[in-house]
Amino acid sequence: MFNPLKIKENLYWVGVIDWDIRSFHGFTYSTQTGTTYNSYLLIDEKVALIDGVKDCFYPEWLERISKVIDLKRIDYFICNHVELDHSGAIPEMMKRIPKAKLVTNQRGKEALLKHFYTEWDFQIVKGGDKLSLGKKNLRFIEAPMVHWPDSMFDYLEEEGILFSNDAFGQHYASSHRFDDEVSFDLVMDENAKYYANILWPLSPIILKKLEEIKAMNIPIKMILTSHGLSWRKYPQKAIESYLNWAKGITVPKVIIAYDTMYYSTEKMAQAILEGIILEGLDAKLYRLPITDMGDIIKKFLDAKGLLLGSSTINNDILPTVAKFLYEIKGLRPLNKIAGCFGSYGWAKDMAVKTLETKLKEAGISIALPSLNFKYVPSEDELKQCFDFGRKFALEVKKSQGSIVSI
Ligand code: FEO
Repeated sequence: MFNPLKIKENLYWVGVIDWDIRSFHGFTYSTQTGTTYNSYLLIDEKVALIDGVKDCFYPEWLERISKVIDLKRIDYFICNHVELDHSGAIPEMMKRIPKAKLVTNQRGKEALLKHFYTEWDFQIVKGGDKLSLGKKNLRFIEAPMVHWPDSMFDYLEEEGILFSNDAFGQHYASSHRFDDEVSFDLVMDENAKYYANILWPLSPIILKKLEEIKAMNIPIKMILTSHGLSWRKYPQKAIESYLNWAKGITVPKVIIAYDTMYYSTEKMAQAILEGIILEGLDAKLYRLPITDMGDIIKKFLDAKGLLLGSSTINNDILPTVAKFLYEIKGLRPLNKIAGCFGSYGWAKDMAVKTLETKLKEAGISIALPSLNFKYVPSEDELKQCFDFGRKFALEVKKSQGSIVSI
């Protein structure tokens, strides 16, 4: 039933498709289509199986591999990353390939032992080491914290193929395996969502790693990821997008995110939006409880400006806004500016003060004094909101980005 996909002579995709998963890491990152756990079989005089799958997908993985090769021929299982979406099925697979060495780095070995408490026949590699498979050679590139301390890439020298594990992947399930089989906008959108929701806080490390790889001066003709679509037409676009996001390059775009109790804060948000539109900027308006958080975070990835609004409750902000701030703080965004607005009944300034404090804690500077109105905003107060939007747009325009908006 489950078939492998031949990528090139002696190179096969033997991964699995998880059509049912609807959130990754169990919280903010919604995966509306599902995801894939990609695994690759590389056949030479020696045979290497690269990356594993989540435990419950072992039968599907086994079936795809078995249709290419007798499992007894597998000499190496290469574990590039120990997170359970890639390692969960390793114990079962290792029972079927007992003569295979388990190739990983020292941090990978430690993490595998701490997950599975099993002493396999490890072959420890480090960055720069090569594994000869006969005519072809894999070079290892350690990539700690892209996404875990154990993360590693492999480079197939003779083909210019980078096995990038989590990097450049997307949580996207489809019947396609490559970037040129879907629209470019779709793959870049999913690429951005993955970066924003998983890798964003690791940007400084990612930037350093990408610069290191650039300095190696190796041709990268194809990137085979461990999630979603791989890059055979646009590998350089994938690298370029990561470089831009890792550097914190922004475009003049504004995200307005808010929640509202009796629609006063909503009226303010809409008037602010009108001011931004008048200045000709791209702006998106999101009421937090009804919009997917992972998608807002994706849109915020390259946006210069964030305007955040909340009604006041219990002398504080609404829980939906607090959750958004919690996420933003963890993502450690660079080069953003923000403004705050809200409404209150008797606890004047309490909500906007919380907004300001939490945005500053997230490393985001406040560009304008906050707007804060009692009960229902008057016509004059809505005009102030409109002007607030225009002023904020001018602040955003002062800083121009250089990448295409997503
Ligand atoms: Fe796809 Fe960090 O695991």
